[in-house]
Amino acid sequence: MRTALVVTIRSFVIGLAGLVCFASSAFAEADIIGFSQIGSESGWRAAETAVTKLEAKKRGIDLKFADAQQKQENQIKAIRSFIAEGVKAILVAPVVATGWEDVLREAKEAKIPVVLLDRGVDAPADLYLASVASDQVKEGRVAGDWLVKTVGDKPCRVVELQGTVGSTPAIGRKKGFEEAITGHPNITVVRSQTGDFTRSKGKEVMEGFLKAENGGKSICAMYAHNDDMAVGGIQAIKDAGLKPGKDILVVSIDAVPDIFLAMMAGEANATVELTPDMAGPAFDLLQAYFKDGKVPQKFNVTESKLYTPDDDPKGEYDRRKGLGY
Ligand code: AHR
Repeated sequence: MRTALVVTIRSFVIGLAGLVCFASSAFAEADIIGFSQIGSESGWRAAETAVTKLEAKKRGIDLKFADAQQKQENQIKAIRSFIAEGVKAILVAPVVATGWEDVLREAKEAKIPVVLLDRGVDAPADLYLASVASDQVKEGRVAGDWLVKTVGDKPCRVVELQGTVGSTPAIGRKKGFEEAITGHPNITVVRSQTGDFTRSKGKEVMEGFLKAENGGKSICAMYAHNDDMAVGGIQAIKDAGLKPGKDILVVSIDAVPDIFLAMMAGEANATVELTPDMAGPAFDLLQAYFKDGKVPQKFNVTESKLYTPDDDPKGEYDRRKGLGY
């Protein structure tokens, strides 16, 4: 069971839970922090990369950035080269949940603390210092609760665009949504397939769903595990001659600027926000850890706020558009 602590943008936390033994010398400005990023599959990912670079620069951190192009093997190679180089700390956004134990153990043996960003791993928690991520089951639940409330007792056949197979957001967001619709037999997920968190695959998968579901006429809602797939799916719905947001409800996760544009056009109905600022809290907790040697709270959980067209989509678009999405 994860210990949860809500992190808002710009805040950081220090707890005393856990007894991991990593290096604890002072944090100097010239220290290098390695960041193994997944790739650039989505607008949200691009914003996370941009915000991480900005947050590092603000703190005078020398950030070594490695783009894994969606491949776990590239992430493992990057982490090994960070270890060989003797970086002060490592940030990693793990593409999938499994297969990290060996490399995390190598980092721990080298006394290099690792902070996980935005996704989790299936590995003993003593192998990393902390994680900064959302509660992905909650995100799915927030999306599902919105649908339950919106459709009431009406029958609703849902199609689901899943994220990357084996990634914690795909697993958690599916689980949370299913939990929310349990007990509402009028709502059923009739098709579910991965769109790998990309706009192009989201569109492709949705085209298949539309064909298989009477040209889309028997679909009531599209639930996408991220906004990019939703935007691709919206295009597919339009190409099929239907109105996204009206004929087919659209609910997704991330709150990227493009989904607010879609809301302004009446083509998207709800999104759950995922902050792209995972690195700010990670740098803060590392800085405090190096300064005082205090072990931070293990799981630092970001907020999951629901946005609908009632929440000033234009203002939300303007607020985000310069953030690198
Ligand atoms: O891990 C976070 C997810 O990864 C975001 O929701 C998605 O857009 C990204 O690709």
